[in-house]
Amino acid sequence: MKIADLVQSADWKAEKHVPVITAPDKVKAGEQITVEVCVGKEIAHPNTTEHNIRWIKLFFKPDNGKFAYEAACFEFNVHGESVDGANKGPIYTEPFGKAVLKLNASGTFVAEAYCNIHGLWESSKAVTVEE
Ligand code: FE2
Repeated sequence: MKIADLVQSADWKAEKHVPVITAPDKVKAGEQITVEVCVGKEIAHPNTTEHNIRWIKLFFKPDNGKFAYEAACFEFNVHGESVDGANKGPIYTEPFGKAVLKLNASGTFVAEAYCNIHGLWESSKAVTVEE
């Protein structure tokens, strides 16, 4: 078995677990860009003590390279836990992250999201670096 066998993908507009990558289609080399990742853009994912998104990782695979780079990692560490019980706590982290990046090569971002009970989900977004 490989990790790829465990990762699910789907259309994010129809499946609430799929991470959504918001990034420009085309950028200039070395230009500072903002890339956002989130889960639940179209259909909200639950955010409760029992059921939540734990993390989203953002990778980048250059077109001219063999390996993926881990560009950012967002952990969502609080989901209503409390001494008073589950879902009685004062704070919930929403599954959203923003990274500021610079690219020197065209490639593809791949986001991996982990739900504590529904496992691993992914999506990708290509970005072209214009000369
Ligand atoms: Fe879930």
